[in-house]
Parts: sequence; structure tokens; C-alpha cells
Amino acid sequence: MEKTQLLEGFKKVFGAPGERVFFSPGRINLIGEHTDYNGGKVFPCAITMGTYAVVSMRDDQSVYAYSANFPDDGMLNFELADIEYNKTDKWTNYLKGMFLYLQQKFGELPNGLNMYIYGTIPNGASLSSSASLEVLTGVIIRECFNLDIPQLDIVKLGMKTENEFLGLNSGILDQFAVGMAKKEHAMLLDTNTLDYEQVPVELPDHKIIIMNSMTRRELVDSEYNLRREQCEEALKQLQTDIDVPSLGSLSAEEFEAHKTSIQEDVLLRRAKHAVYENIRTNQAANALKTSDLKTFGQLMNESHRSLKNDYEVTVKETDLLVSLAWEQSGVIGARMTGGGFGGCCIAIVEDAKVDTFIGQVGKRFEQEIGHSAEFYIAETADGTKEWDA
Ligand code: GLA
Repeated sequence: MEKTQLLEGFKKVFGAPGERVFFSPGRINLIGEHTDYNGGKVFPCAITMGTYAVVSMRDDQSVYAYSANFPDDGMLNFELADIEYNKTDKWTNYLKGMFLYLQQKFGELPNGLNMYIYGTIPNGASLSSSASLEVLTGVIIRECFNLDIPQLDIVKLGMKTENEFLGLNSGILDQFAVGMAKKEHAMLLDTNTLDYEQVPVELPDHKIIIMNSMTRRELVDSEYNLRREQCEEALKQLQTDIDVPSLGSLSAEEFEAHKTSIQEDVLLRRAKHAVYENIRTNQAANALKTSDLKTFGQLMNESHRSLKNDYEVTVKETDLLVSLAWEQSGVIGARMTGGGFGGCCIAIVEDAKVDTFIGQVGKRFEQEIGHSAEFYIAETADGTKEWDA
């Protein structure tokens, strides 16, 4: 993306030059799925597909926002003093949440902003386009009004926007990955303490391929919230037998010794996923640190099986992409990434095999599903910041 293109876009829409340009990445989660609201580990990295914004200060108390991705929505606006969730305000609800919570912390802002947004993350693809926009908005507000707030607190407000403003009870994975990332690294984050470690993503002679199933099931949010409730219920039942603060703090031995206290089979399977996915995530980070790609790939594959069989958040399209990926030569491992119910999968593929991989998986997917998948080569990125290049 060229900066000049974004500035031209701004000028066309607002009739005056834009002042500052910002970028916020998307993310892939290498492993550690549905562990973040269970006090477990996640292992994401940010990617160069993301959200750009050009902004300028206004003289009044309004925010005017335009997305080049949704030209049919036209110019949307809201008042700083009057922020409420409103379905018809569409994507600007993400902005509104961030303005609301930052004003609750710092008082009403002296003036509003003009914002021109352009995103390169496909929507509904489980690459965190919404977290990207939330953290982007927070960083813009901080920088434009010189607010004294660390990036991690903006990340937390992004999660609050998602939980309280939008009503999705997600964990901190997405906003953290988007806000705290370092290029060429993945973050091994303990979602219980928020301690984290930047681990270099060194995959000699390999690429991470993102495979977009171009599918998103209805009811994603309610299914997501249901998974979280099921984990909470499973934990409660376990706690009648063992003193444990979260599923993520259980070892495999502890879980096996006490799992009979979980009454229903479905709850048992949800908990099993959460416990073992957390263990796999630690093991995978260690494997990457010691350049043991083979083990890393096997853990990715196990993660997918567990998400399919025990957590039941895969769909036929993502299962097909992953099983087709497993059949190809030069593939270290493959799994779905993000919340599930459609969206994207990732595969680690040998450089020399990438073209054949995309050709083969793409062809077979289209034959079986009837629409095509999209493929992107993932490049890692830094967290949300002003674009000073
Ligand atoms: C979504 C949520 C995250 C996380 C993942 C699953 O992306 O927003 O908080 O729970 O699903 O790992």
C-alpha cells in the first residue's frame, strides 16, 4: 500500500489534506486456540495484512469516518458526547467503543477527528480485522491527543470494546497480537498473567501460507460465547474435586486424575481441548526455539484435530483445506486459525513447493466445495503504530 494513495483517498472524501497516517496489522495464531479465556497460552504473530487510517483534526466534537472498503456505507459520523452502540452504525461501532472508553479514562476529548480507513484483511476471515480496527483507533486517539496510556492498556480497551460494546466474550488474543507484535516474532503470551515472550519465527526455507475458506457460518458469536460458557461450567465441576483457578493451569496428569468430576461428555471434551491445547502451545513454542519444525508441525496438526473433534469449531471447508494441506509434499503442518466456524487455516510449506501447494489445494477445494479458496503468503509485522516511513 502506498502512502500517497491513502492520502489521495482521504482528500477525495474529505476535501482537505489528511494529516497523519497509521497502520494496524491483522494476526494469525500459530497455535493456542480457545485457550485465551481459559487462562492458557497463545502463540500469535501479526501480519502485514492490516488496516490503514489517515486522520485529521476537526474543529467540532464530531467524528467523521469513511471506509474505502465499504463505499456504500458512505460517510458515517457520531458525536463525542453521545456514544452508544447502534447496529446501523456498522463498523464504526468499533471506533465508538474506543472513543467511549478512552474518554471515560481521560475526559471528553477537545475535538473530533476525520478518519479515512482502508483495510487489506478480508472481513470475517478470522484474521482479526476488528481487533486491528479497535487498536488502530486507540493508538490514533492517543497520538492525536497526546494521552499518556501504554499500548497494553489500549489493547485491553480493545478487548473491552469487543466484550462490553459489541457483546462478544472474546479473550485478549486478537488485540494483544495486533497491538504488541514485533516483526519476525511470535508472542508466547500467558493470558492469565499477561507475561509474554517474543520468540523469533525462523522457518528456514519455509513459508506460512494462509488459506482462506471464504466461508463464515452464521451464529459465530453465539457459538463462541457458548464454548466459553461450557468451559466455565466444566471448570466449576472440576473445582468440586480439585482446587484450580483455570483450565489453563491444569497439567495433563491433574486433568486425567480429576476429569471424572465433569458430568457431561460435551463439557469433558471442551475441557480436554482447553487443557491439552495449552500444553501443546508451550511445547510448540519450545519446538520453534530449538528449530524443531517437525514437532512444531505435528503439534499444529494435533491442534486442528482437537478443534475438530473435541471443541467442534471447524466446518467442512476448513477441515477440507487442512486435510488437503496434509496430503501435499513439503508441508510441515496445518491447522485452522482464529475462532473457527469458517475463516482461515494456516500451513507451513517448503519454499520450493509453495506454488504446487496452492495450485493443488486450491483446485481440489474448488472441485469439492464449489467456490474457490484464497491463499496468501504470511509476512510478519510490528504492532499498531504511526506510519512514519
Ligand atoms: C477469537 C477470539 C479470541 C480467541 C480466538 C480463539 O479470535 O477473539 O479471543 O478466543 O477466537 O483462540
